[in-house]
Amino acid sequence: MIMSHDYVAIYPGSFDPITNGHVDLVKRTLRVFDKIIVAIATNPGKDGSLFTVPERLQMVREVFKNLRGRVQADSFEGLLVDYAERKRATVIIRGLRAISDFEYEFQMAMMNHRLKPKLETFFMMTGESEFYISSRLVKEVVSLGGNVAGLVPENVFKHLKQKLTQ
Ligand code: PNS
Repeated sequence: MIMSHDYVAIYPGSFDPITNGHVDLVKRTLRVFDKIIVAIATNPGKDGSLFTVPERLQMVREVFKNLRGRVQADSFEGLLVDYAERKRATVIIRGLRAISDFEYEFQMAMMNHRLKPKLETFFMMTGESEFYISSRLVKEVVSLGGNVAGLVPENVFKHLKQKLTQ
């Protein structure tokens, strides 16, 4: 019998930085899949990211250090569907918060499906306590002196404060 845990799930994103919304989603996804690759997309040339890719990778690895066998952090260039193929993954995981996420996510899922019909996108609802968390807002709040404790993992909180309030 083929079980879902025979497959690798890829959780792609910018993760600039990883938030507790992402962490909750990874942990819940591990109830269904045995292995998840948190895959940071690199966008050379036009990248307005706060953290470098190595910094983002390091933060993800710190967060999941106790789940190393099951959660892997990686980065990729180019198309997500090609990366998924290289990793022999058949499922992409994406989180949905509000309805406003839907249009963008739906477009990406359809485009990815057109490029690689065998690759499926699974949507997970964000946990209710993480519903309003986004990397963008977290960065804005920290840069303006607001408190985001509890919205991001502790190591990320420290990295954010170092970067944004020096
Ligand atoms: O966290 P984000 O920024 O919403 O993630 C978007 C991401 C990284 C999943 C998307 O931009 C992506 O897949 N980038 C890789 C390049 C690619 O495949 N683009 C076509 C998507 S249909």
